[in-house]
Amino acid sequence: MHIDNARAQQIQRHPKLELHLHIEGSLEPEMMFSLAAKHGIKLPYESVEAVRAAYNFHDLQSFLDLYYAGCDVLRDRRDFYALAMAYFARAHADNVVHAELFFDPQTHTARGVPMEVVISGLRDAMDDALRRYGISSELILCFLRHLSEEDALETLEEAMPFRREFIAVGLDSGEKGNPPEKFARVYQKARDVGLRAVAHAGEEGPAAYITTALDVLKVERVDHGVRCDEDPALVERLVREKIPLTVCPLSNLKLCVVKDLSQHNFAKLLRQGVAVTINSDDPAYFGGYVGENYRAAADALDLTAAELTTVAENAVRASFLPAPAKTSLLSKIRTSAARA
Ligand code: ADE
Ligand code: ZN
Repeated sequence: MHIDNARAQQIQRHPKLELHLHIEGSLEPEMMFSLAAKHGIKLPYESVEAVRAAYNFHDLQSFLDLYYAGCDVLRDRRDFYALAMAYFARAHADNVVHAELFFDPQTHTARGVPMEVVISGLRDAMDDALRRYGISSELILCFLRHLSEEDALETLEEAMPFRREFIAVGLDSGEKGNPPEKFARVYQKARDVGLRAVAHAGEEGPAAYITTALDVLKVERVDHGVRCDEDPALVERLVREKIPLTVCPLSNLKLCVVKDLSQHNFAKLLRQGVAVTINSDDPAYFGGYVGENYRAAADALDLTAAELTTVAENAVRASFLPAPAKTSLLSKIRTSAARA
């Protein structure tokens, strides 16, 4: 990493938010092994190093295959607690003050792990993270888009007893061939009960998926969204309607969405006025938590101090925090930027 000290310090100092983090994607190989031992599971790897060596992806699906397999070690409430607590410790080290966490209930309920176990384990950790680190957090329940809408509808139904425990619904997993409009009814139901809406779109899928995520699913922000620039009218719309994108630079690099970070369109979109944010997606698999994503993007794209401040502010505005909390964080970022 070659960014100068001033920008590195600025990145560390800014209070940061994480708006695109799959909690299952923060499962580090060390924890995979310790939970496998706890439950008597034989992993198809000899060592932690062998697991890391397998993290060589050529597209989204090649990653998802390992990601879903890794989830098998998550079985009881303590496991979900340990997973999320380890994430919060790392987030705290990066000066994250608020996190909106994706979780994939279908990955767990399909293995016989009850919804209640997943949500209560995560909730225990969220409560402890607030007490221990002062990090506030919310949960976003994601539907797996490679499965049917019926399955998503059943999942939403199953989660209804825990309605107060999550703030929004999301859409993830294999994008190609699974357009947002496949989930029109389940998003309508979710919005009807007051849930907010986000969706992955335009990661591997075309710009048209971003448009239907906005028009059909009525999402408030778009996860990834980097293929928007294939449609200049869509980019203009994102600017005009102030629709945030939760971009994940190291993920895009690892999953070959971009060949090289210096070719990433993040800076171009930022300079065009799109409300882009920086996030970590699945940090245990992609080689860096949110601070590292900021540093890598700043280095490869020559982001200026003022641009880094704008990105941090974008995240606050894009979050589901209440207005007073947003105002207070924006003023903290301004104070921290002025100290530079
Ligand atoms: N699930 C976990 N990470 C994902 C990503 N980057 N895209 C789609 N689904 C995911
Ligand atoms: Zn993601």
